[in-house]
Amino acid sequence: MSDIVTPTLDNLSEESRTFPPSDSFAAAANVTADAYREADADRLGFWAERARRLDWATPFEQVLDWSNAPFARWFADGRLNVAVNCLDRHVAAGLGDRVAFYFEGEPGDSRTITYRELTDDVCRAANALTDLGVRAGDRVAIYMPMIPETVVAMLACARLGAPHTVVFGGFSSEALATRILDCDAHVVITADGGWRRGSVAPLKPAVDDALAQCPDVDAVLVVRRTGNDVAWTEGRDHWWHETVDPASPHHDPEAFDAEHPLYVMYTSGTTGKPKGILHTSAGYLTGCSWTQYEVFDVKPESDVYWTAADIGWVTGHSYIVYGPLSNATTSVLYEGTPDFPDKDRWWSIIEKYRVSILYCAPTAIRTHMKWGHEYAARHDLSSLRVIGSVGEPINPEAYIWYRSHIGGDRTPVVDTWWQTETGSIMISPLPGVTAGKPGAAMTPLPGVSADVVDDDGNSVPNGSGGYLVLTEPWPSMLRTIWGDDDRYRETYWSRFPGRYFAGDGAKRDADGDIWLLGRVDDVMNVAGHRLSTTEIESALVANPKVAEAAVVGRADETTGQAVVAFVILRSEAGDGGPHVAAELRDWVANQIGKIARPAQIMVVAELPKTRSGKIMRRLLRDVAENRPVGDVTTLADTTVMETIRSGMASSANQED
Ligand code: PRX
Repeated sequence: MSDIVTPTLDNLSEESRTFPPSDSFAAAANVTADAYREADADRLGFWAERARRLDWATPFEQVLDWSNAPFARWFADGRLNVAVNCLDRHVAAGLGDRVAFYFEGEPGDSRTITYRELTDDVCRAANALTDLGVRAGDRVAIYMPMIPETVVAMLACARLGAPHTVVFGGFSSEALATRILDCDAHVVITADGGWRRGSVAPLKPAVDDALAQCPDVDAVLVVRRTGNDVAWTEGRDHWWHETVDPASPHHDPEAFDAEHPLYVMYTSGTTGKPKGILHTSAGYLTGCSWTQYEVFDVKPESDVYWTAADIGWVTGHSYIVYGPLSNATTSVLYEGTPDFPDKDRWWSIIEKYRVSILYCAPTAIRTHMKWGHEYAARHDLSSLRVIGSVGEPINPEAYIWYRSHIGGDRTPVVDTWWQTETGSIMISPLPGVTAGKPGAAMTPLPGVSADVVDDDGNSVPNGSGGYLVLTEPWPSMLRTIWGDDDRYRETYWSRFPGRYFAGDGAKRDADGDIWLLGRVDDVMNVAGHRLSTTEIESALVANPKVAEAAVVGRADETTGQAVVAFVILRSEAGDGGPHVAAELRDWVANQIGKIARPAQIMVVAELPKTRSGKIMRRLLRDVAENRPVGDVTTLADTTVMETIRSGMASSANQED
């Protein structure tokens, strides 16, 4: 871990109102304050009870084995099947006709899928994947748009005990290839494309490109979603409708060990190489199932739940797929963007399906704020009763706007803090218990132990800031980084031995409530997406024109942070030509994905470095955010910052 900066405390709220739940909400809530007392009295017993909400083929006796810390084993002597817990058990309980998903395609097509239909489809896909050679333990890569087949593919893998790795459809072929190779997947599931703002966003060409580097992939299953032409490799490529649709809807599920791998999700860390976060079966499902029930107060028999996120991120895994389905929830699945055909699309979906619980990211809320509340005002949003936020700190203005214009000044707002690594929500208000404060994630959930500590690992007093740590293991925690136990230990458990280091700065306010203050490492958060400065730097220096690069995240009103890159060109590239900035921005988009495209690139002659050669990103952040440049005394050449600052002032924002 490098370049740790002390978290700043300056983005705290002037807003002093708190929002307690109404008496009627509190009286009907799934969870009361007793849950905190129960968990405090017997943490492991508390989690064991939550795990018993699942259907076990072999019940567990052992709750936690932490003898080989930090490698946890939860409920390890039990066996279950995750897909059965999300599907078959609900059908067996007479809920086969309940809607699992209202699918809303971007062009306006829609499908209603019941639990029975979803179960049948998952069985068909499991049989088809078996015919393609997939066995328990084999990894399967999924590169898909937001369509029902994506959920079917994930659950079919879970049913077979074949860990999936879902790669966000916005990632490039390079990024896809890296992930396929890292987890050694031999089968890829994709689609011809998805709909995005009225056009086809193709996916299959990126798979074809990626597979040029992945000789071990021998089967590609392709869903026909958009009908665009795709290149075809005979023998390797198979249409979903010709392979899955005719397969048998009967499939006998096998029970797997509680610790059987469920999926690998890649996320950015502080080095150039993404980390494959490994989640296993029963502990993960216990965490996302219980927290979906607890934090959103879900009443599966009457609520319509919508997580407006992409399945390609952990939020989609835990709160579109595994959490909601394990609780037999009815969810909305929406394919497209919030502004197609107009900026009221989300609100029209809420009105159409009478959505009662909405979960989305602050960046989306701020975008809607910018567009204006009149779009929401066109629709009846009175069905909403809980609204949630995830992915980055929510500023109090956005919180108040969300609560008032979307929640009708009526709904509790749950600001939920968690990470790909934590698997499920860790710090959040409970909507029937907590008096929410705009901008604060408030308190660890029952059964979760968190602390805010200083550089030496001492707990800070109320009113102070420090680093967020989790002090006890929890069921949905990552088990390791795929293929790299040392990196797992080093990244999360070495900064404060015995405690999980989250990489976030946090503050405890005068009441002891927790406010998240953003990352304290080289990870940026752009529109709720996690990006590594080093990964973008590596992409830039792979361009033949670039000699050196330094990337920082600068504050951005809508996206939280925006990527700014400083590059030194190779001498043979001269001044790089008039379009060098645009060219390099596209280069990064091609190497990693559009989400990583820098908002601004500045060509510089030198970068600020210490005498030992380390780039001082802190100073570049000052320049990018238009602040006076901080202490430069450790720089090898103190004039370099002046040159960069004057150049920056004349370089316009290049964002499109
Ligand atoms: O910095 C924190 C921020 O998002 C990071 C985790 O990103 P990722 O693994 O992509 O997962 C995002 C969805 C769970 C955290 O380290 N973060 C997430 N939720 C919040 C947050 N920051 C502040 N408040 C939140 N509610």
